[in-house]
Amino acid sequence: MTVQHRLLPETPYRTLDDYRAAGGGEGLAALDRLGPDASIAEIRASGLRGRGGAGFPTAIKLGGVAAAEGDRKFVVANVSEGEPGTFKDRWMLQNNPYNLLEGITIAGLAVGAEQAFIAIKHKHHTAIDRIEQAAVEMVDAGMIGQIPITIVRGPDVYLFGEEKAMLEVIEGNDPKPRLYPPYMRGLFETQGSSLHPTSVNNAETLSHLPNILARGADWFRSVGTDQSPGTMIFALGGDTTVNTVVELALGTPMRELVEVHGGGTESGLPIKMITNGVSNRPIRPEHLDVPLSYEGLQSIGTGLGSAGFTLYDDTICSVQAIGAYAAFNARGSCGQCVPCKVGATELARRLIALSEGRGGAASMDEIAGWVAKVTDWNRCGLGAGQQALVGGYIEEYPDDIGFHLAGEPCESERRVDVPVIADWDRQTGKFVYYETPGYTEGLEIPLDLTV
Ligand SMILES: Cc1cc2nc3c(=O)[nH]c(=O)nc-3n(C[C@H](O)[C@H](O)[C@H](O)COP(=O)(O)O)c2cc1C
Ligand code: SF4
Repeated sequence: MTVQHRLLPETPYRTLDDYRAAGGGEGLAALDRLGPDASIAEIRASGLRGRGGAGFPTAIKLGGVAAAEGDRKFVVANVSEGEPGTFKDRWMLQNNPYNLLEGITIAGLAVGAEQAFIAIKHKHHTAIDRIEQAAVEMVDAGMIGQIPITIVRGPDVYLFGEEKAMLEVIEGNDPKPRLYPPYMRGLFETQGSSLHPTSVNNAETLSHLPNILARGADWFRSVGTDQSPGTMIFALGGDTTVNTVVELALGTPMRELVEVHGGGTESGLPIKMITNGVSNRPIRPEHLDVPLSYEGLQSIGTGLGSAGFTLYDDTICSVQAIGAYAAFNARGSCGQCVPCKVGATELARRLIALSEGRGGAASMDEIAGWVAKVTDWNRCGLGAGQQALVGGYIEEYPDDIGFHLAGEPCESERRVDVPVIADWDRQTGKFVYYETPGYTEGLEIPLDLTV
């Protein structure tokens, strides 16, 4: 079921008047009426979960910062959108930047923040321009401005989207996650002071807040499932007839996304694999009827992630494709944790070698060993993402990897690149992907390498 007029309007909001005509500003009015505690209670009742990857309950995060000790608090909108296959946050901002600005102001006022940050990759110019234009309109109209909002232009690296790395960038450092005590996040630690409580939320997550406060938790729950209420913005790319970005009720069957919105495979050939970023178990075509919800995807051993799906028909070599994805993770690892950097790299090297027909370069036991070790003592979730991707892949596609382990050369000439989306072309209905960044270069291993 396509749901209109939640975050993605049928016609883009070009001015604040368009947003107001659709109820814009009513969320902040509700916050004024309810006060911070009751507003957070309403968000809790809505069951909103984070749209950035892990699906963490948003009210727990906001409530935790609101209740935390400290007179300096911050909120951050995560607009890194570095996950391959994902295009929801930029598309939302290009069509409707107002919900985020109202949402981050609501979050800031609800937790008692002194400042808000919108952290976005510097190369996402179109989205940045739209946010800036909308912010000027909303401040001039007196709708926002209660707390200053600073746009932080971050580096073009995957790790920038990891929340602890993002906090480092906001502080002017490199995107290398700091070691925090469990469940603590904060900004601007000064000598002798502790970290200042900070809530980092995905851009789409924050954008849901105005509608939840204005229309109520029951309205939000009127679509979606009990454990996954509301809507989410899905991207579907790759070999589909149409590549698309669409807002759907959570719980919608994946088949509807693929067949109704994507038109199935353009080639008419069978589906080989559907990936959900580089941090989740790839999905087999047998699972096309799975509900697109946190619990639905969990039931087939994968995750909803940031809802950026890429579909491949059966002309690909799945080992080569996952090798390229694994190389993206290996390149993205900052190297502070040895198991992550070494494990991610060794897994990528082995998959690449296998796809090139060098079966003697790896054994299943060895790959499984690296899958088990890649998460040991890590500061962030990148290694766990590599584990989910490669570990999930070898379980889902044992025949493909077995074929290559036997030393057979690849039957497919096609080379899959990591699907990092640059834009969506209205004329063709296809995503425009960034040029192959050469993630696999230098990761080739000699035949006799054993570790
Ligand atoms: C390697 C890595 C990259 C990430 N990239 C993003 C990203 O681009 N956007 C995002 O919202 N979250 C990303 N995350 C998740 C964030 O760390 C964090 O969980 C999220 O911003 C929390 O927001 P939410 O609770 O609204 O989902 C990433 C995590 C990891 C481990
Ligand atoms: S887990 Fe990997 S990416 Fe994360 S901090 Fe450690 S080395 Fe860097």
